[in-house]
Amino acid sequence: MSAKKLKMNNITIDFPGVRALNGVDFTAETGRIHALIGANGAGKSTLMKVLSGAYGHYTGDITLDGEKIEITTPADAQRYGIQTVYQEVDTAIIPSLTVAENIMLNQTVQSMENKHWINWNRLFKQAEDILSGMNLCIPVKKLAGELTLAEKQLVLIARAISSNCSILILDEPTAPLSHTETTELFRIARELAQKGVGIIFISHRMPEIFELCNELTVMRNGEFIVKKNTSEVTPNQVIEYMLGRKLEDQFPSRVSPYGETLLDVEGLTDGGKVKNTSLHVKAGEIVGIAGLVGAGKTELCKALFGAVPHVTGTVKLNGKSLKLTSPHSAVKSGLALVPEERRKEGVLVSESVTSNLTAVNLKKFTGFLSFINRRAEKKTALEYISALGIKTSSETSRVENLSGGNQQKVAIGRWLIADAEVYIFDEPTKGVDVGAKRDIFELIAQLAAQGKGVVYASSELSEIVGITNRVYMLYDGEPVKELETAKTTEEELLFYSTGGR
Ligand SMILES: Nc1ncnc2c1ncn2[C@@H]1O[C@H](COP(=O)(O)OP(=O)(O)OP(=O)(O)O)[C@@H](O)[C@H]1O
Ligand SMILES: [Mg+2]
Repeated sequence: MSAKKLKMNNITIDFPGVRALNGVDFTAETGRIHALIGANGAGKSTLMKVLSGAYGHYTGDITLDGEKIEITTPADAQRYGIQTVYQEVDTAIIPSLTVAENIMLNQTVQSMENKHWINWNRLFKQAEDILSGMNLCIPVKKLAGELTLAEKQLVLIARAISSNCSILILDEPTAPLSHTETTELFRIARELAQKGVGIIFISHRMPEIFELCNELTVMRNGEFIVKKNTSEVTPNQVIEYMLGRKLEDQFPSRVSPYGETLLDVEGLTDGGKVKNTSLHVKAGEIVGIAGLVGAGKTELCKALFGAVPHVTGTVKLNGKSLKLTSPHSAVKSGLALVPEERRKEGVLVSESVTSNLTAVNLKKFTGFLSFINRRAEKKTALEYISALGIKTSSETSRVENLSGGNQQKVAIGRWLIADAEVYIFDEPTKGVDVGAKRDIFELIAQLAAQGKGVVYASSELSEIVGITNRVYMLYDGEPVKELETAKTTEEELLFYSTGGR
């Protein structure tokens, strides 16, 4: 079978107030794995949406083996075998349907439109065949809503390849996955490529790109920058192409001398994952909660923040016992949590960037007779847009029009403005580009320098080593080891995070 070549030439697309793509060229070939790389807001998702028929109003053309093809609707794209798994997995899965129905969704909808009966036995069998072809055993009769995020993603891939698929677009599939789940996904991607599927892979994790992909295309500010074989370039060169400059030291220097104990937690238990957890955070200290995906970091953060019922144990802030009954009372007591699932819990996508940024601390902007001081609100919003490098056409844009990574930054910004005593960050760098990570680390270091306490939960051990002063290693819901970061290494952290004692 000879390879098919898909080419996008000189693609330009405008949205109110922004040119999201400006004359972009992109090529993909069946049987190969292509990386699409760029900072948050560079235009990666938009380019792939053009290719999958989500927009009809672009200019430029698309060719398949030299022949011009017309792609202006999702049906067009599917006819040419272009299938997409979008960045927002939860919006594409129908939780109340079974795994089989989710996989066979396109076919089921077609049968219904043509008023054909659905042959359920055949549907379950076909879904099973697709999954076993991917060497996966996910029960096809299970409700999709009960799957883990990784399984949902695999179901979406199964859906994509259930019909004609010669090009498969994966938009940041690995962001929420654990290391093992990522390995599984890579196995499937490689096998599909071997079977002749062309894969387009978007990720902010440089090592993944070099591990998986044959070639890479870099975009910056809506423009094509360069296309290379992965063997021709180094990760640092790619970062330079992405940012248009060298990346300074990834982590700010740690200075902050510590003050008194701010947060003191004793025997915290949530009746589920979190077991008998004791920890403390001093003023000016950045304390890591490290552990593998699934070790209970998110559960611990939520328990600290009063976001789960039935928590026992004591939490003291400045020596005063807190009642962990609700996030609302946690905020009032001086805690802030940047949650992991930011799109679901962290932002209101249909509201403006400004409203989102200032929502938690509205009283800071409310004056006499409860009038909101719009000017102060706008000024603060602009400050944080600039400090976090949030790419938006204006502070009044709706958050849903921002790129995935820029939505994350808004969610982080709102809590930075919150003016708390202790800040809890749960995987704050997930889905953000390397340049923006640096900005986030800088802001966290500043909070510590102001004498705030910081809890930093992450499964990225390099970040734990880079930014924290002290770290608790979590294994299966329990701290198994406490370490001074300056005296430890990633290897040692890995040892404890995998259950070593
Ligand atoms: N429907 C829209 N309306 C207005 N602006 C849009 C729309 N879609 C995309 N944009 C703008 O286009 C730019 C590119 O966004 P895109 O989502 O393609 O970035 P990305 O490279 O995928 O970034 P990320 O890594 O954060 O996912 C952004 O500045 C975004 O605000
Ligand atoms: Mg994107």
